[in-house]
Amino acid sequence: MQRILPVLALSLFLLASCSKEAPPDKEELTESKEEAAAEQKLAVGKKIYEANCGGCHNSDVAGAPTPGDKSDWKERIPVGVTILAKKAIEGYEGKKGAMPPKGGNEALNDEEVTLAVRYMIAITK
Ligand code: HEC
Repeated sequence: MQRILPVLALSLFLLASCSKEAPPDKEELTESKEEAAAEQKLAVGKKIYEANCGGCHNSDVAGAPTPGDKSDWKERIPVGVTILAKKAIEGYEGKKGAMPPKGGNEALNDEEVTLAVRYMIAITK
């Protein structure tokens, strides 16, 4: 019995560490899937931004906030994606200038405009 105990203890320990390690593996898998999906959305947002928004937003046209310029965004980011996207979708007049609905491209759907806004925020943060 004295010889068996350590073996028993060891196998119990191994069993315990096995079952402990299994769930994190799964989590890592879903996490990397989510990360891949987020990266893909960012890439789509980048394309939409470059094709429809960069014309004004890359060069400060009419005071359009430049992505990457933290001071342009420090009061905008806390407003949140939902409201910023709504303004970009509907268009609005700010203190410096006017932004046309969907940047002037009515063919964009709301989700596409939102992805572009997310991209603008992501590269600024
Ligand atoms: C014709 C020029 C123009 C285009 C094209 C344009 N914007 Fe803008 N946008 C502006 C201007 C000007 C402002 C800032 C006005 C101000 O604050 O006075 C602005 C502001 C914004 C803001 C900040 C809103 C806020 O609350 O301050 C977001 C977000 C935004 N645009 C998103 C987009 C997206 C997304 C696109 C492309 C789908 C786009 N814009 C295309 C001119 C443009």
